[in-house]
Amino acid sequence: MKIAITGGAGFVGSSLALRIRQDHPTAEIIALDNLYRPGSELNLPRLGEQGIIFIKGDVRNPNDIAELGELDVLLDCAAEPSVLAGQGDEARYVIDTNFLGTVNCLEHVRNCGGRIIFLSSSRVYSMAALRDIPLSDQNERFSLDAETSVTGWSPAGINENFSTAGPRTLYGASKLAAEMMIEEYTEMYGIEAVIYRCGVIAGPCQMGKVEQGVFTLWMARHVFGGALSYIGYGGAGRQVRDILHVDDLADLIASRLANFGNHNRQIFNVGGGFENSVSLAQLTQICEDISGNRLEIGSIKENRPNDIPWYVSDNTKILATGDWFPQRDVKVVMTDIYHWLNDNRTTLEPLFTEGSK
Ligand SMILES: NC(=O)c1ccc[n+]([C@@H]2O[C@H](COP(=O)([O-])OP(=O)(O)OC[C@H]3O[C@@H](n4cnc5c(N)ncnc54)[C@H](O)[C@@H]3O)[C@@H](O)[C@H]2O)c1
Repeated sequence: MKIAITGGAGFVGSSLALRIRQDHPTAEIIALDNLYRPGSELNLPRLGEQGIIFIKGDVRNPNDIAELGELDVLLDCAAEPSVLAGQGDEARYVIDTNFLGTVNCLEHVRNCGGRIIFLSSSRVYSMAALRDIPLSDQNERFSLDAETSVTGWSPAGINENFSTAGPRTLYGASKLAAEMMIEEYTEMYGIEAVIYRCGVIAGPCQMGKVEQGVFTLWMARHVFGGALSYIGYGGAGRQVRDILHVDDLADLIASRLANFGNHNRQIFNVGGGFENSVSLAQLTQICEDISGNRLEIGSIKENRPNDIPWYVSDNTKILATGDWFPQRDVKVVMTDIYHWLNDNRTTLEPLFTEGSK
């Protein structure tokens, strides 16, 4: 088995690489990454210790991808994953990496063989439609009207039929465009592919920052100190997300590595689901309980650009395909993050210090 992981030094890519190594001790596993994300370089020693080959390469450059050679599986995890990407002068970077990078991966497997697992995002869904969902404010969190169920959403969460029309951020649009190209390549060239639209993924080894990886950042501030604020939607921390432990995602991918089976050519929402959803206010309580530290959390009432008040993945479709389900709850996710931060304090504290990105 020969597996390549683009973005293989990143949070998700490196976690998946290490998990695949456990299941496949003799496989050739290659992590390709240009180390764009600050902190990704810290994952390289862990990869090296497990015999995972690192190639410093850029998915925007087909010649770099060509170095991967013939493959059985290509896991496409390289991205600029911030919903704020493009607000400065980096619009080309997010589009070229997230969209053209995937096209380059598709061309590679078309020429050299291999199947593709694409990590897409819940942010392919329409921001306006997500903001239009009626919410009430209950028990420190926004909640959906339990009597209502319409196309695309229900109290169980957002399903795959939710609208993708209209603006969704440059990040979301570039992921959706990449999904479309995957569908074209599977149809035209018979490439096997599966698309997992993930909600928030969290766990150890994520170099969290304000605009991406906020669950890690929230715990990091509780461990190392520093300021936190509830931003937007009245500034009370009522916004809700579901969290998927990166090890649960690894379980899913490990189960499909040898054979996509009934996942082939499908798009699935994959997340922690309603049971593993929390508001920021609830997250604060969990961080306090685990770390034993209490912070004063600031309040900024104005909404941030590109933010949404509520997202929970409806896992119904993926659960129906087999035996995968998320096994680690929010407390496990946050406890694992806590131990990682605490055990690697010297290396990680400067990365998470206020002002660092
Ligand atoms: N973390 C989440 O909550 C989440 C949620 C949904 C989807 N995803 C998807 O999962 C994948 C991995 O995200 P992550 O959270 O690990 O992010 P990450 O930033 O930790 O990892 C992405 C990696 O890609 C690398 N990279 C960026 N541009 C590159 C380029 N041009 N060429 C080669 N490498 C490049 C970065 O250096 C980084 O190591 C992404 O596709 C993302 O869209 C993540």
